[in-house]
Amino acid sequence: MVTVEHMSLTPVTFYPRQPEQLQDRFGRKLTYLRISVTDRCNMRCDYCRPAPDAYRAESHAQILRYEEIERIVRVAAGLGVTKLRLTGGEPLVRRDLPLLVEKLANIPGITDLSMTTNATLLGKYAHDLVSAGLGRINISIDSLHSLRFRKLTGGELAPVLAGIEAAKAAGLLPIKLNTVLMRGINAGDGHSEVAELIDFAAANHATIRFIELMPMKQGMDWEQHYISIDEVLQREDVRARVDVDAALETGNTAARYLPLKNGSGEVGFIMPMSERFCEGCNRLRLTADGGLRSCLPADHQLNLRDLIRSGGSDDDIRAVFLRSAMIKPEIGQYDFDAETEKRSMIHIGG
Ligand code: GTP
Ligand code: 5AD
Ligand code: SF4
Repeated sequence: MVTVEHMSLTPVTFYPRQPEQLQDRFGRKLTYLRISVTDRCNMRCDYCRPAPDAYRAESHAQILRYEEIERIVRVAAGLGVTKLRLTGGEPLVRRDLPLLVEKLANIPGITDLSMTTNATLLGKYAHDLVSAGLGRINISIDSLHSLRFRKLTGGELAPVLAGIEAAKAAGLLPIKLNTVLMRGINAGDGHSEVAELIDFAAANHATIRFIELMPMKQGMDWEQHYISIDEVLQREDVRARVDVDAALETGNTAARYLPLKNGSGEVGFIMPMSERFCEGCNRLRLTADGGLRSCLPADHQLNLRDLIRSGGSDDDIRAVFLRSAMIKPEIGQYDFDAETEKRSMIHIGG
C-alpha cells in the first residue's frame, strides 16, 4: 500500500524556528535531492519497469511542471540542499529538459547538479545540457553485448555508446557508469561481464560502479538473479584488475570505491542489499508527480503537487520537507512480497 499524506496548510510546529539545515531524527543532514522528471522511459529494463499491464504512465497533468520543480528546489536549497540529481524514468524523454537544468543551475546554494540517464538521447542533448549548466552525468549500462543488451533493456546498445562519446565530447565529466549485477545475465560463472566492463570504463576514462540488484518490483525473480558484490570480488578476472585488499573508501555516497591495480582509477560498488549505507544517507526523493519520499524502499510519500496546486505557500512546502525528514527511517526495509505499482523504480527514479 502506498501511503500518501495530504498536508494541512497550517504550518507544523515541531520546530520552534526554521532550521538552516534539514536534518532527520538520527542526526543525518539531508543535502541531496533526487528529482524524477518523468516516469516514462524509452527502454524497459527488466529490473526496473513493471509488466505493461501493471504499469500506467502518469498523465502530463499529473506531472510537476518545470516551474513547480524550480519552486520546490528553491525551498529545499533554503533548507540546506546543495546537491541535485535528475532521474526518471529516462529524464531526457521529457521535452526541453535543458530548460529545467538552466532554472535549477541558477538557484543559489546548488553546487552539484547531475543526471542519471540511459544515454540513448545524449547524442542529441549533451551539448545543450552543458550549456544549460549540467555539471556531470551517470550512465546506466548493463551489458556490452548487443543481443544481451537488447534482451534486457528492450533497447539498442549503439545509441548508448554514441551517448557516452557525446558526453565526453561535450565535457560532461567525470562520467560514472552504473551496472546492475544480475546472475545469469551479466554476472556469475559463464555470464560475467564485470572484467570487460571495468576495462571498457577505463578505456573511456569513466568510473564504473556495480550495483546489487534490489527487489523493487515483481517481474524479475530477485532470488534467481541477485548476486552479492562479495561474490563478484572473489572472481579471478576481477582480482586481477581490482585491489580488493585496499580499504573501501567511505563517505555519505552510496558507493564504496576500490583502486584499480594498474593505477588507472577506481571502481565503485553500491551494496544496498549486503551492506546498507543508510547510516550516511543524505537523500530525499521527489517523484515526477510531486511525491516527496525520504527513503528509496519505504512507501511513504508526502504530496507536494496537490499542496502547491491548492495554493500552498513556501512555508507550507518547507513544512513538508521538515516532516519528510522527520519520518525518514533509520534503515530502509525492503519488502520482498510487495506488489505495489508505485514501488517500481520507474516511478521513484532509482
Ligand atoms: P553520485 O552522486 O555520483 O555518487 O551518484 P549516486 O550514486 O547518488 O546516483 P546514481 O543515480 O548513479 O545511483 C546509482 C544507483 O544506486 C541508483 O540508481 C540506485 O539503484 C542506487 N542508489 C542510489 N541512492 C540510493 C539510496 O539512497 N538507497 C538505495 N537503497 N539505493 C540507492
Ligand atoms: N536494483 C538496483 N538498481 C536499480 N536501478 C533501477 N532498478 C534497480 C534495481 N532493481 C538503478 C540502476 C539504473 C538506475 C536508473 O536505477 O542503477 O541504472
Ligand atoms: Fe537512504 Fe533509505 Fe537508501 Fe538507506 S535505504 S540509503 S535510508 S534511501
